[in-house]
Amino acid sequence: MPKFVGYKCSLCGTEYLPGQVTYTCPKDGGNLDVIPDYDAIRKKYHPEDITSRTEPSLWKYLPLLPVGEPEGDATPLHAAGGTPVFALPRLASKLGLKHLWLKDESRNPSASFKDRASAILVARAQEIKAGVVVTASTGNAGAALACMSAAVGQKAIIFAPKSAPPAKVAQLLVFGAKVILVDGTYDDAFDLTVKAADEFGWYCRNTGYNPFTLEGKKTAAFEIWEWWLDAHRDWHKKDSPLDHHPSLCVFVSVGDGNIISGIHKGFRDLLALGWIPSMPRIFGVQAEGSAAIANAFHANTETITPVSATTLADSISVDLPRDGVRAVRAAAHTDGTYITVPDEDIIKAIAELGQMGVFAEPAGATAYAGLVKAAGLGVVRSDDPILVMNTGSGLKDVRAAMQAVQSAPIIEPTLEAVKKLL
Ligand SMILES: Cc1ncc(COP(=O)(O)O)c(C=O)c1O
Ligand SMILES: [Zn+2]
Repeated sequence: MPKFVGYKCSLCGTEYLPGQVTYTCPKDGGNLDVIPDYDAIRKKYHPEDITSRTEPSLWKYLPLLPVGEPEGDATPLHAAGGTPVFALPRLASKLGLKHLWLKDESRNPSASFKDRASAILVARAQEIKAGVVVTASTGNAGAALACMSAAVGQKAIIFAPKSAPPAKVAQLLVFGAKVILVDGTYDDAFDLTVKAADEFGWYCRNTGYNPFTLEGKKTAAFEIWEWWLDAHRDWHKKDSPLDHHPSLCVFVSVGDGNIISGIHKGFRDLLALGWIPSMPRIFGVQAEGSAAIANAFHANTETITPVSATTLADSISVDLPRDGVRAVRAAAHTDGTYITVPDEDIIKAIAELGQMGVFAEPAGATAYAGLVKAAGLGVVRSDDPILVMNTGSGLKDVRAAMQAVQSAPIIEPTLEAVKKLL
């Protein structure tokens, strides 16, 4: 018995039973939402039944997930999610903000947010007894799938652009996946993966294409909800007049649009269950050179026009976003917006976060770069509570990190040389 009642197309609204479809809507290619059995969940659980569970990972939210617990015990797959939230008071005061936090997804087993999606995907692959799981990736989704697959002995194949940063390729290889580098863009790798999966009968994890990636990513919203229940209580006592309740603002970087849509789905699930009174505001941040979703949002349309992407933030360098429509809605339906930032701002953001003890890859730092711009433009107010997501570790792309800093001097191993330098 599947733990969900079916799928619903995000474009035409057609509903499908669990066994009827696997990837996107057969009618129009729309992304499919997995529909949880809200009534059954509501009958069986109160919010406290979930928040009192003690798993330090996304499996804490098992009752709200469309998969069962994966086989194997205490593997890295079981450690995905459960990431920390840090307060950033010095950056807050620099930006003229009162309440700023960062949720650090670089603490996931393969050091990016993508572990959430891949953990659920591998659990699903086990349930449907998939022989091989395949994905296209700019690097992180692949590293996550390779990591989660290695943890439980699942066969995985990764197609990545040959330009992927070496650290990400190294992760793929070390986790023992079959790695195929494509002489083309991420978008080329994506299309090739869909064709290859079809030809060889592999289970395709491609971001946005497979509805279960969103179900993994929504767990970040559940963690934010739970953290906010506590943080809001404290913050409200200290600083906020009782008649003023600004909503939590969540900033996240956007490439294909699946992370932002996943966070939105998590909050939509909580709203449907009646467990939150209203939606947090969701802000998407794209690189100026890869802004197809931001362009659509600001043109007030759900029609996504592809771009020819150029940004040093490789994880969000996407010509045709595969989850664009839901990503536009994530901001449009929550009183959020889209912000675009140039690569120089992303590099600066890496350095600023680094000085707070957070090491972000370019796509991870992009969300903070977007907040800097939003605060400067007055898009957020000084008393808005703000949570920025760092979606990936700086160790993933050391070449980009080195652009954010001055290189260290090299000296003779003598005290004189140290004195001269100082
Ligand atoms: C570190 C990082 N941040 C952000 C994103 C953007 O996620 P999405 O493509 O779902 O919008 C990715 C995707 O690869 C990523 O790896
Ligand atoms: Zn449809």
